[in-house]
Amino acid sequence: MKDIKLHDKTFEIYLTENEIREIVQKVAEEINNSGIQNPLFIAVLNGSFLFAADIMRKITLPNSEISFIKLASYEGMITTGKVNELIGINADIKGRNVIILEDIVDTGNTLMKLIEMIENKEVASLKVATLLYKPEAYLKEIPIDFIGKSIPNKFVVGYGLDYDEIGRNLPHIYNLKN
Ligand code: IMP
Ligand code: MG
Repeated sequence: MKDIKLHDKTFEIYLTENEIREIVQKVAEEINNSGIQNPLFIAVLNGSFLFAADIMRKITLPNSEISFIKLASYEGMITTGKVNELIGINADIKGRNVIILEDIVDTGNTLMKLIEMIENKEVASLKVATLLYKPEAYLKEIPIDFIGKSIPNKFVVGYGLDYDEIGRNLPHIYNLKN
């Protein structure tokens, strides 16, 4: 398949639309099989908008709800990136079984911040589902409960993931071509 150019970089196909669909289906089945009661999914914007939309249509757990949170991570010169909250959690999450939906877990800084924000709201349980996971980049101890696919420490775009805000609309996932 054809390479694409975004800003100054060339990307090649890594996961096709069909492969992504199978990964999403697998994660949905794992979540469905967990039997979590009345789950409240919290999707992390912007990156997880397509993953959230697709996986929710495969979730069969009764009384499933979804809400959104928007975070932005800033990578300065230090390795510990700061994460800012742009849209907070407006659902009442006390006593709820929360499942976070992430597009990708890289260093885990974003996830850490999210978990801190959610934990002190006295949730009944907290699970994490991510489409992609970079084990070589992960710096945290927090277990990730549902992983779509572990990938090498390479930059990827498409299916919600961006390179400087573009590429989110691509149906396939691409990685940086060297
Ligand atoms: P973390 O906080 O380092 O785990 O990564 C957080 C955010 O960085 C993710 O939610 C993405 O928005 C972004 N990110 C990490 N890796 C990639 C990538 O390969 N492509 C695009 N965005 C990424
Ligand atoms: Mg981004």
